[in-house]
This record gives sequence, C-alpha cells and structure tokens, in this order.
Amino acid sequence: MNKTVYSLGLGPGDHELITVKAKRILEESDIVVVPQSNEQGRSVAREVILHYIDASKIHMCYIPMTNNREELARKYTRLAEEIKGMVEQGKSVAYVTQGDPTIYSTSNYLTEKLRAVGVQVSHIPGISSINAAASMLGVPLSIKKGNFGVYEMPRDPAAAADLIQRHPTTVFMKVNNRLPVLVETVKMVEPEEAFLVRRIGLDGEAVYDMLNGAPPPESAYLSVAIIKRRRIS
Ligand SMILES: C[S@@+](CC[C@H](N)C(=O)[O-])C[C@H]1O[C@@H](n2cnc3c(N)ncnc32)[C@H](O)[C@@H]1O
Repeated sequence: MNKTVYSLGLGPGDHELITVKAKRILEESDIVVVPQSNEQGRSVAREVILHYIDASKIHMCYIPMTNNREELARKYTRLAEEIKGMVEQGKSVAYVTQGDPTIYSTSNYLTEKLRAVGVQVSHIPGISSINAAASMLGVPLSIKKGNFGVYEMPRDPAAAADLIQRHPTTVFMKVNNRLPVLVETVKMVEPEEAFLVRRIGLDGEAVYDMLNGAPPPESAYLSVAIIKRRRIS
C-alpha cells in the first residue's frame, strides 16, 4: 500500500498558475481534500481545481479558524485520521492549498498531523502570492547582495516600521483588519514605494499605490503589501 499523500500548492488563484506536476497529481488522485476555514465562503482552491477535475472527486473539509490551539490540533488530527483511512482503503489522496503549501498555510498543520499518524507527505510547491504580487507590480523582491523580509501584518505601526527598516523590501501578508496599521505605518516610514495588491488573479484584482493615499477598506482582504524602504544614502 502506498501511504504517500500529496500536499499540492495551487498558486494564488489564477488556474493557469499551477504547476504541470500539480495538475497531473490532481488528475491521478482518487480524492482531493480541500480544507476550508469559512463554511459559507467561496473556496478559491476549489474553484482552481474544478478546472482540472470533476467535483465528485473533491472532499471539502470545514475547519473553522480559532485561537484555541488544542481544539485546532484535535480537528487536524481527526482530518489526518480520516485521510489515513482513505489511504488504507487503497485510495490515492491529495490535499490542496492556495499559493505555496509551506507558507502560512493550513497544510502545514495537516502535514504535521498526517506524519504523526504514520502517513508520508510529499509537497508539490505552488507559486506564492508573494511572487505573484511582485510579478504583478514588476518589481524585484531582491537584487544581488540584497534581501527581503516576509511577515504577517503586525498589530501596531511601530513594530511594522521596525521590520521595514530591516530589509530593502518587506512583504506583509494577511493584512485583513490591520489595514489601518499598514496605512499608519506608511505615513510614519515614508518609504520609497508602497503597494497593496489585492485578489491577484481573481475577480476584483487591484493594485493600490499607497503613496497616493489610503486604499479602500475592501482592499484589505486577500491582499499583500510590498514596501521598499527609502534608500540609505
Ligand atoms: C493563509 S495565507 C496563505 C499564503 C499562501 N500559502 C501563499 O503562498 O501565498 C493567506 C494570505 O495570503 C495572501 N494571498 C493569498 N492569495 C492571494 C491572492 N490571490 N492575492 C493577494 N493575496 C493573496 C494574503 O496576504 C492572504 O491574507
């Protein structure tokens, strides 16, 4: 019995931005598990894979977001055991995540729990929203001898400003309800460039140049900020 299941990165949301390998594994899998945090909301991952496989192969799995680590661990363990059961019945299984599976992804929790119950996991990388945002803007994330930092949007402007000073380029993910913090930070830091890129490859895609003012509230969800600090002369 082959006990390896695949953790597939699907890219940021444009179905053409998945790898050839991920597409092949989707097509070859008997069951494709799609973890989702919001039961009512649309699943970008589901919409991407429907371009390649029939809905009958998709196993949606609702795992609500919570700050209760034990509850979350229990839910992922239960899903890992469910997937192990599928594998023991001889099914080939893959689970999917938006972007890359190793970056701020629920797949990271599921992978840990699958390994704990004796299931091998093989990751197939996906194009991260980090790369997609930089490509959309046409700006380098890093050049020779440079570097860039990637962070979740901090809670307060002083912390965000401190991070921006550490790298020529800083990427903030999961801006969400911390958009006012980002706006305040940009005012404080007066960077060379500051962009917020929303819903890359999806309906409602937009780029906001934050040096021209605060982006609208709806820009906060599914968005990535790329900030270039002022050159030190
Ligand atoms: C839970 S993290 C998942 C990151 C993902 N694994 C990746 O590699 O891009 C969710 C965050 O990724 C970013 N994101 C994912 N897809 C995006 C898209 N299509 N457009 C803009 N930002 C996106 C946003 O910052 C969002 O808050």
